Order: sequence, then structure tokens, then C-alpha cells
Amino acid sequence: MSTVNDPSPTMHDPRTQALGDYAYREALENYVRESPGTFTEKMENFTKYVPRQNLARFLARYEIFKRIMDVQGSIVECGVLFGGGLMSFANLSTILEPYNFQRRIIGFDTFSGFPEVAAEDTKGAPERKSAHLKAGGFSAPAAYEDILRAISVFDMNRLLSHFPKVDVVKGDFAETSVRYLEEHPHLVISCLYLDFDIYTPTKLAIECFFSRIPKGGIVVFDELNEEAFPGESIAVMESLKLNELSVRRFPFEPRISYAIIGV
Ligand SMILES: C[S@@+](CC[C@H](N)C(=O)[O-])C[C@H]1O[C@@H](n2cnc3c(N)ncnc32)[C@H](O)[C@@H]1O
Repeated sequence: MSTVNDPSPTMHDPRTQALGDYAYREALENYVRESPGTFTEKMENFTKYVPRQNLARFLARYEIFKRIMDVQGSIVECGVLFGGGLMSFANLSTILEPYNFQRRIIGFDTFSGFPEVAAEDTKGAPERKSAHLKAGGFSAPAAYEDILRAISVFDMNRLLSHFPKVDVVKGDFAETSVRYLEEHPHLVISCLYLDFDIYTPTKLAIECFFSRIPKGGIVVFDELNEEAFPGESIAVMESLKLNELSVRRFPFEPRISYAIIGV
């Protein structure tokens, strides 16, 4: 569809992105590569390089984190992919509450993409659905080892690093959720971040984790009301009473919405 090279095939979706997005991505890729400085110097000046959309997502996570700072429990991210969201929360916890060794940031992902796609995921006009909606969509096989390495480097630069901060759980959530709860029966969740994008694991995540969120905790929806991924909305509406939740959003970020439990 495009004559512009796509430098990021895992993320790009010709059904929902404009040609200009590809051109920008290619220009950015070239700029980051050719810009002077070491990798670390570039990251220390990250605002020169990071797309505004990703800065906005970081800011949204900061806003969410501030709302659960005084709520007991770990943060569970359902769907990790390359780990940018997971490590945002890990950094926020480390910066803002360095002594909270109890708060774990726990991420679940196959790292081989969607195991399957249910009928609910493709309901509605086909031309408006994400091109990623197929078995193996969002596969990122090298990401798991890479995130483990990112965590070990991150642990070199934080207080109380003998307490683990980040847990990455690899495999189909249908199996890993059960095993994780057997091994961690104490788990309380201050923030349940739903970002599997699809129906079946989203429904299961609400089933096994929602009752572990205390009053004041947050459930975050990455794709609620998103036409390209209807499965998440269907799972949420089947499992939760939407009109009993105050679902809020941020004016600067188009996808993320959240509800504070008991409010
Ligand atoms: C949109 S990505 C997550 C993005 C990530 N939260 C971020 O902010 O960068 C959705 C992820 O959910 C994962 N996923 C979907 N179904 C799953 C399942 N049944 N078990 C484990 N992971 C699953 C996919 O592998 C994919 O990496």
C-alpha cells in the first residue's frame, strides 16, 4: 500500500495509520541513527527522539500512577510487547516510592503474539479492524530475553534492589494466570492495566484479577471503545457493569481510559 519503507513492521498497521506516519517513522529512524552521541547520551536527551505519542502515553501512565500511589497492591500489565509500558511503571515506582518494596510490576505476554482471535475480535466492519488481528499478531519473540536484560540493568540503578521490582510472565495467559495465582496467593492489585487487545484473555484477566483490586485501585483500558479492536470492549461490557464505573480519559492521549474502583 505504501511506497515508503516501513521501518517498524511489528507496530505499523496500514488499516489505522496514514502514509505520513510511515514517512515520519522513516525520517525519525534515520535521524536517531545519524544523530551524534553515544546511545546513552541520546537517551539522556530522549525528548529529541521519542515520538510525541509515546511521550503522551508515558504522561498518561504517570497520571495513573499518581492516582494509585497510596493504594496497596502491585501493578499488573496484561500485554507487554516490547516492555515500554512495563518499564514506565517500574521507573515511576522506583522514582516516586523507592521504599515500596511490596509494589511489583507484573507483566503477562506470550511474546509470540495473539494465540488466537475469537469471533468477538472481528465483529463489525472488517475494513475498520486492525490488521494485527490474527494468530501471531504482535509477535515479538526477541522481546522476552531483551526485557529480562533491561530489568537487570535497571536493577543496578535503584534502591532496595535485592527485592525484585519487575516480574515478566511468559506464555498464554490461559495457563500463566492460573499458575501465577497459585504461586502468589497474596497478590493484591492496585492497577490492572488491560492491554491484551483481544476478547478471550481480557475476559479472563477481569475474572481472575478484578476482585483483587481494593477500593481506590484502578482498572485501565487501553482499547475500550476502539473500533479496530472490539474484543476488549465486548469482554469489558460482558464482565463489568459499565454504567456503574466512572470511565475517565486524558485529553492528550487517545486510547487510554480508566476507572477508579468504588468511585
Ligand atoms: C498491544 S500489545 C501490548 C502493548 C504494551 N502494553 C505496551 O504498552 O507497549 C498486546 C499484547 O498482548 C499479548 N497477548 C494477547 N493475548 C495474549 C494471551 N492470551 N496470553 C498472553 N499474552 C497475550 C500479545 O502477545 C501482545 O504482545
